[in-house]
Amino acid sequence: MRSLIDIVDFSTREIQQLIDTACDIIERPQEYAEACKGKKLATLFFEPSTRTRLSFEAAMLELGGSVIGFSEANSSSASKGESIADTARVIGCYADIIAMRHPKEGAPYVAAQHAGIPVINAGDGGHCHPTQTLADLLTIYREKGTFDNLTVGFCGDLKYGRTVHSLIAALSRYHNVNIVLISPEELKIPSYVKREVLEKNGMSYMQTTSLEEAIPQLDVLYMTRIQRERFDDLETYERLKDSYILTLDKLQTAKADMCILHPLPRVNEISVAVDGDSRACYFKQVLNGKYMRMALILKLLNQSADEICDAADEGELAVNTFRCTNPRCITSTEQELDHIFKLMNAEHGIYRCLYCETRAVAEK
Ligand code: CP
Repeated sequence: MRSLIDIVDFSTREIQQLIDTACDIIERPQEYAEACKGKKLATLFFEPSTRTRLSFEAAMLELGGSVIGFSEANSSSASKGESIADTARVIGCYADIIAMRHPKEGAPYVAAQHAGIPVINAGDGGHCHPTQTLADLLTIYREKGTFDNLTVGFCGDLKYGRTVHSLIAALSRYHNVNIVLISPEELKIPSYVKREVLEKNGMSYMQTTSLEEAIPQLDVLYMTRIQRERFDDLETYERLKDSYILTLDKLQTAKADMCILHPLPRVNEISVAVDGDSRACYFKQVLNGKYMRMALILKLLNQSADEICDAADEGELAVNTFRCTNPRCITSTEQELDHIFKLMNAEHGIYRCLYCETRAVAEK
């Protein structure tokens, strides 16, 4: 069964097909009102959510399907120690498709190995959030009409911001996209994203701590929240939390058609006064998320055997040769899981953890 764990699981052609389906749903919603009649979506949310969970549920209901699930770990048997693998196998007996959010990186990947039905990653720790990326892409497409030749600024928590990592990976596949990374020193983009996404794809990018300096050149400004829940040290969070606040004053030097995105929730990083500015697109982005999730549910429930075979990705694997050192990786809490790494660079012996992308290097 094909799942969506990381945005790069889908080709640009498939993403365009999802965008086209979403646009058709917007034009002709009645044509889709019974498209998932008799099907069930399970929303397994081990971490809080407003938009992602409810937009998945609204998406399935608007497709004529139904929804089961839970919205916090404490109301599931995970609180009694049930593993992700067992939970996924159980839910696979009740539902046709799963949307899962989990604080541990790689948890939806583990679920996808055991559920027997498609699993959608609805956010795993600081790793990936591919359906937010689908919402972001549809918003950029509807506002700008293209992904090519855009200068896109990412501002705030670029270290733990999973939506940032996923959107940069998606944009890396379009033509002449320039990336501007705006963050405090402590929250800079992880070096693996720079090395293996930006540099590997030959993308032009710059890093700065100044939103004011960056803003005039941007076609899209992607603001992010400094994520309190990802900090081990709350003193650092308190020091950094108000690093960037977008105000009408700061927008004075921005392009008249710049598009302001934010995955939401916001805390303090966009002044409420900006909401009335024509460049503020973050509530449109919320609605676009529902349409893209409808398109995604349709795609995954209607996948053909050919698609499933095409998706098989065999690379050299190292099983239990390395141990993942990331404390946020699902292997740190689910002790029975094999530590599986995939070879990324044979010349330098670089492997990546299949669950969370932490790198390991083979001894020579
Ligand atoms: N953007 C986003 O993931 O929002 P929620 O945490 O409310 O789902």
